[in-house]
Amino acid sequence: MEKFVITGGKPLHGEVTISGAKNAAVAILPATILAEGVCVIENLPNISDVSVSLNILSVLGARVRMLSKNTYEIDTTHLVGTNVPDELSRQTRASNYFLGALLARFGRAQVAMPGGCNLGSRPIDQHLKAFCALGAQDSVDYGMITVRAKEELSGARIFFDKVSVGSTMNAMLAAVRAKGQTVLENCAKEPHVVDLANFLNMCGADVRGAGTDVIKVRGVESMHGCTYSIIPDQIEAGSYMVAAAATGGDVLIKNVTPKHLEPITAKLRRAGAEIEEFDDAVRVRRTGPILPLKINTMPHPGFPTDMQPLMGVLLSVAQGTSTVTEGIWDNRFRYVDELRKMGANVQVDGQVAVFEGVEQLQPAPLRASDLRAGAAMVVAALIAHGTSEIEEISHIERGYEDIVQKLQGLGADIRKVERQPAALSQAL
Ligand code: EPZ
Repeated sequence: MEKFVITGGKPLHGEVTISGAKNAAVAILPATILAEGVCVIENLPNISDVSVSLNILSVLGARVRMLSKNTYEIDTTHLVGTNVPDELSRQTRASNYFLGALLARFGRAQVAMPGGCNLGSRPIDQHLKAFCALGAQDSVDYGMITVRAKEELSGARIFFDKVSVGSTMNAMLAAVRAKGQTVLENCAKEPHVVDLANFLNMCGADVRGAGTDVIKVRGVESMHGCTYSIIPDQIEAGSYMVAAAATGGDVLIKNVTPKHLEPITAKLRRAGAEIEEFDDAVRVRRTGPILPLKINTMPHPGFPTDMQPLMGVLLSVAQGTSTVTEGIWDNRFRYVDELRKMGANVQVDGQVAVFEGVEQLQPAPLRASDLRAGAAMVVAALIAHGTSEIEEISHIERGYEDIVQKLQGLGADIRKVERQPAALSQAL
């Protein structure tokens, strides 16, 4: 029952430090199961999706110890279960990575159909296809997915029909301890895919080619723990880049990998932002007008779908007409209804949205319909002149560590407040 109250209209200024990558963390945590030993994971973002994954590990019998806010020691030597409890699986999409990791170590796993953002249909057929090619069989019963190895898992050649981050990572998890070589083709190339492969290799796995569309995994008999630091979050960094550009600010965004940000940097430059790249930081400034763009979201290294709602907000106040085509998810324009409440002029036709830039957004009561739509609403509220309130912020907190403190550090007027239950607020 909490909400954000944001008074916008102030350019953001100062420095912000980016946290570890959510989408790497939520795959690396299940992967610690394969290490069968003690792992120390550093730069873990302190967000609810990570807490859920840590809870799942504890319930399965791992010893999880917090060493500092962003560093955890996880001992997976003695696990007691292979079933991920229903209520935990449903809290995050990433619970499906426990299928690959538990299958590889114990030959069986059960996870409820995962939750996460509602972006339209989110099938897992390619995950199951990979498990089956490695020698498992699957069944779905009353919302629970069970995978079971018929005998020992053995290496296979797997061609993904769709470029999919989740299937690529889950297949890697399942294959690292299978007998012989697995060749994965038409793989996703996102930075978090590479990060998972690097972690697995640090634990003794033999994974080559991550970051290209062919990944070769030679199965190993055993693995061991390691100390590993998660890469910076590409989308969190991109979100602050957009916030800086949209408010006409000047922000140094630290602890980033500029290479991972290239598709975002390129588009923001075209939109009129000045961007300086350093070894592990980028500085984003804008003084001139926001220029319209054409954006098509695509798998990496194309423009990331997770940045689409944020760029939509920027383009809603550009000088001219922009076109955004969503190439990954079939329902990722739900935030547009909220933007219209603020006076934005956007027409959506299927997978294409046309933004006619308006001079200014007006404050409004807003809703975070999913994680990135929620972040987009924060940016929209930051540029609107006046006070907006955003509800359902738990979506935002699934993926952005300390967003209130980080934005306050940049001079934003943002507060998190308890929302009064409807009956009570009417009575007052
Ligand atoms: C990951 O989701 C991210 N989530 C998403 O980020 C991100 O939007 C997405 O990758 C694309 O980059 C996590 O990493 C936890 P996919 P994932 O498998 O793995 C289709 C965020 O905001 N597909 O790459 O679930 C699917 O329908 C979140 O941080 C199949 O057809 O995405 C989609 O059209 C939201 N069959 C496309 O592939 C399958 O078996 C890409 O999905 C799997 C996917």
